[in-house]
Amino acid sequence: MRTGVVNWPCGRPGGRCKSPSPTAVSVLTEGFFHQPFIEFVMVAEANRRRGYGRALVDHCVSLSPAAKVWTSTNESNGAMQALLAKAGFILSGRVDNLDPGDPELIFVHLPRVTPVESAAR
Ligand SMILES: CC(C)(COP(=O)(O)OP(=O)(O)OC[C@H]1O[C@@H](n2cnc3c(N)ncnc32)[C@H](O)[C@@H]1OP(=O)(O)O)[C@@H](O)C(=O)NCCC(=O)NCCS
Repeated sequence: MRTGVVNWPCGRPGGRCKSPSPTAVSVLTEGFFHQPFIEFVMVAEANRRRGYGRALVDHCVSLSPAAKVWTSTNESNGAMQALLAKAGFILSGRVDNLDPGDPELIFVHLPRVTPVESAAR
């Protein structure tokens, strides 16, 4: 499991702030049929719409350039779906009966390089 934490106090590298809480956190595992899966992305409320969520998702994708990278979010989560669309993810399926009345949508980011190209790098 890999974890990414963007912790720029006061929203900038090297900034100083009294609050020790992270700005944004993501968790990347290989828990989806042994393939990379972004389990979790969370940006502190005060820091939303500043590009941190997108930066973490892009970072997770960049760690596995030759792999499919999967994630999921609730159908009700328009913010995450908009972010994923901008980050190049496409809808890949839907799971009912996890959260009542709010299906889980599965998204995938397809690799831009083949495994052969990746090995040659
Ligand atoms: C979803 C979440 C991670 C987005 O993080 P963020 O740092 O605010 O997103 P970004 O600033 O990187 O936004 C990137 C793009 O996503 C879209 N987006 C983000 N938040 C949005 C919102 N509330 N409404 C509509 N579109 C939104 C926009 O297209 C945005 O680009 P723009 O600002 O240039 O228009 C954040 O709202 C969050 O932590 N939510 C609670 C936890 C959660 O739902 N996590 C996802 C499921 S695990």
